[in-house]
Amino acid sequence: MGITTKKFGKTYKGEEATLYILENKNGMKAVFSDFGAVLVQLWVPDRDGKLEDVVLGFDTLAEYEKNPTYFGSFIGRCGNRIAGAKFTINGQEYRVENNEKENCLHGGSVSYDKYMYEAETFVEEGAVSVEFSRLSPDMEQGFPGNLDITVTYTLTDENELAIEYLTVSDRDTIVNLTNHSYFNLAGHNSGSVLGQEGMIDADAFTATDKKMIPTGELTDVIGTPMDFRVRKPLSEGIESDYEAIRLGGGYDHNYALNVDGEDAQFVAELYDKKSGRLMEVYTDLPGVQIYSGNFLEAEVGKQGIVYRKRQGICFETQIYPDAINHENFPSPIVKKGQEYKTTTIYKFM
Ligand code: GLA
Repeated sequence: MGITTKKFGKTYKGEEATLYILENKNGMKAVFSDFGAVLVQLWVPDRDGKLEDVVLGFDTLAEYEKNPTYFGSFIGRCGNRIAGAKFTINGQEYRVENNEKENCLHGGSVSYDKYMYEAETFVEEGAVSVEFSRLSPDMEQGFPGNLDITVTYTLTDENELAIEYLTVSDRDTIVNLTNHSYFNLAGHNSGSVLGQEGMIDADAFTATDKKMIPTGELTDVIGTPMDFRVRKPLSEGIESDYEAIRLGGGYDHNYALNVDGEDAQFVAELYDKKSGRLMEVYTDLPGVQIYSGNFLEAEVGKQGIVYRKRQGICFETQIYPDAINHENFPSPIVKKGQEYKTTTIYKFM
């Protein structure tokens, strides 16, 4: 158990990047980079104790500087989509970057995974952590307010990877932070993830238009291929002729979780029968974007492995997409001086 560091090279701007390697008493390992505060590797034991790296990613810093698919990415200031790349707070309209046709995706083309962070490490009884912090200046990506950001990744001896986000702004703003890791419990190099099984504790998802912008309606999952209340193979229904599945090109939807918003609670799981690896997801956020890697096409990753369509699945815990433009959605507005504090845990067994 402990934390070690390793040089990760220089960014194109000449900044020295470092990898932080967190290890628990079971040999589970999580590797993060201070460039981007990204999750680079996650080594998880199977039922026989054999470790496998269960997240898609790259070997080099230069690749993380591009990373168009957001492997392991820390996403902000506002994850997911903002319709028309504009919103209004306190009567003032703000325009952000339309990096996905007319809409803004993940804060713009330079998301929070493209900046350097200050790092600090902590070793406690049964838990090791790395804390990344940074000040996102007023109007960066077009969002108001100097935002003080701290992301803490903790690996516990219970095989939990906990992510805590803490921010404070000096102006009213919007904040919606997430992690975009693509999981494949058989290993990042094992081909399609569709043979694995998923479960999501949600009775509804946010319906969208063709451009993946929420209509404002919540659609009941009952009797549809979107229903994951009981664990089932990811392959089941992913090719079905159901409108939402067609629009998403597979699973790429925000599930409205059955949560009370208090402490992080169990909301979803992913299971790989062959290896016996099980991942449970806990969060205090109201939604999770389930994205089944539909846009992956022959992306060259770690060890030259070619990642193909649906080789990994993301569980992006979040406030609903385009929430700022929907009064009936939980609000992403964070007032001046108010703390935005949320926790998501990925727990492995
Ligand atoms: C999110 C979106 C997807 C896609 C990925 C990035 O998961 O919902 O539509 O844009 O990010 O490839």
